[in-house]
Amino acid sequence: MTRTELTLVVLLVASVLAMAARAQAPLSYAKDVEPIIVKACSECHGGDSPKKGLDLSGGKGFEHLVGVKGQEVPEMLLVKAGDPAGSYLWLKVTHTATQGKGMPRTLFGAKKLPQTELDVIQNWIIQGANP
Ligand code: HEC
Repeated sequence: MTRTELTLVVLLVASVLAMAARAQAPLSYAKDVEPIIVKACSECHGGDSPKKGLDLSGGKGFEHLVGVKGQEVPEMLLVKAGDPAGSYLWLKVTHTATQGKGMPRTLFGAKKLPQTELDVIQNWIIQGANP
């Protein structure tokens, strides 16, 4: 093997390892989920009087969601780490809540979040709802 070939192999291995490391990093609220939530939710869940007292504006959402009991269905957590089906937020955004209220019709009656964004939220919860 020439020196150039060796350098190429080393570079290739390094970039494959870097990609694998990135793929394995668990999803984070701040990096992956918050941009979706702020865009879709903070219009109502933000400002001076957030709906249902649930403030999901930038920097506020995580502490109000993860491990916190909801008001509409008090026996459920809003986000239960590792368990989307046990997270009221997940039932809300997928319109599968059988108790409590659905999302306001104007926003979610006809359209849900795009599937790619739902996937991010679901995987984030499954991976442990990390900050
Ligand atoms: C158009 C205004 C509006 C938007 C946008 C909105 N919500 Fe809500 N949300 C409400 C209202 C009003 C309530 C109170 C009950 C109801 O009518 O559903 C509520 C209640 C909730 C609750 C229940 C809180 C509790 O303690 O029981 C959760 C969770 C929630 N919303 C999450 C979200 C998420 C996540 C988004 C974005 C994907 C979002 N909401 C977007 C208006 C909104």
